[in-house]
Amino acid sequence: MHAERILSGMRPTGSLHLGHYHGVIKNWVALQHSHECFFMVADWHALTTNFDDVSVIGRSINEMVIDWLASGVDPEKSTIFVQSRVPQHAELHLALSMVTPLSWLERVPTYKDQLEKLSHKDLTTYGFLGYPLLQAADILVYKAGLVPVGEDQVPHIELTREVARRFNHMFGREPNFDELARAAVKKIGKAGRQFEALRTAYLQGGDAEALQEARAILAASQNLGAADRERLTGWLENKGKTILPECEAKLTAASKMPGLDGQKMSKSYGNTITMREAPEAVSKKIRAMPTDPARVRRTDPGTPEKCPVWQLHEVYSDGDTKAWVQAGCTSAGIGCLDCKQPVIDAVVREQQPMFERAERYVSNPKLVAEILAEGNARAEKVARETMRDVRAAMGLGA
Ligand code: TRP
Ligand code: SF4
Repeated sequence: MHAERILSGMRPTGSLHLGHYHGVIKNWVALQHSHECFFMVADWHALTTNFDDVSVIGRSINEMVIDWLASGVDPEKSTIFVQSRVPQHAELHLALSMVTPLSWLERVPTYKDQLEKLSHKDLTTYGFLGYPLLQAADILVYKAGLVPVGEDQVPHIELTREVARRFNHMFGREPNFDELARAAVKKIGKAGRQFEALRTAYLQGGDAEALQEARAILAASQNLGAADRERLTGWLENKGKTILPECEAKLTAASKMPGLDGQKMSKSYGNTITMREAPEAVSKKIRAMPTDPARVRRTDPGTPEKCPVWQLHEVYSDGDTKAWVQAGCTSAGIGCLDCKQPVIDAVVREQQPMFERAERYVSNPKLVAEILAEGNARAEKVARETMRDVRAAMGLGA
């Protein structure tokens, strides 16, 4: 398993907005300095709900990738790729579908939620039921250790872990696993006997310290190849070989980026500022925002806590500015347009470098195509290796 490997993805279903930036992408940008990152355009996933209007998907892919690049996702550091261009996602999805009970998919909470929420569409399809299993394949095909996602995606990560565990349990034991493991113990050399004794102490007596010591012997032994090391790691705990490691969710600090109306920013509420919204449009949208309804006239004092503009100050303003808003609003010392100006300025300032970074890609879309082609190839190289193990384990030939 690659504990430091990260995989995350986003569906190309329209333009990205500041909610995506503050909620997800900012976090990706930070992670690429400390981790090996794979960032995926989940176009198959977009199809599960948008099969009736596929034009949006095609159009959104490039724009979305430009938004990522504009935010500072760096193609030199991270692998940026398109899910459908790496066929192993579809292949692993099919493989996993052989051993995933229908009930596991039916009980994923997002399934019923979405069926109800999107009731204007017929989502009683095979593909939509399989949405989280495809997501599991996305993660497992890279043996990723960490998956940065929001709270709503946690059930999908749980399912991924359960499917991986089941897969390893069913296919992780080669027919002559015990024999191979015992042969590997001999290769440890002198400490081999001790390793076996510690294993017995752990398995029979539940001695957790013995487990630690045995692991230390494995780690210190120079003579083991990667396959034997993995075998013994499984054998030590009476498990098989780990073919698909269990990942963990890396929760993004809950960012409820407020929208123009005080609700969470979301395309479905029509309350967004897009990531590369023109400055005049930003100004116009914020100037049109509703404020505390108690401030009917300029002379009426208001309460910032009852005003969606205040929520944006909470995201964008420093202590001095916030103190100025509190004092000015509650005493009717400032007008609402005065109050909105620092927010407008801050949003425009935040977007300035995004426009600058995006410029070269907007004026030369071939650059984006090149980045994706390179990312697809890098991703496929990793995915192909996983599929080799998976196919072998499932008896589909070497
Ligand atoms: N389901 C995710 C979402 O709607 C997108 C996604 C697809 C994803 N595959 C993934 C996220 C793999 C993380 C890992 O946001
Ligand atoms: Fe809202 Fe600012 Fe107007 Fe107060 S002064 S109601 S915080 S916009």
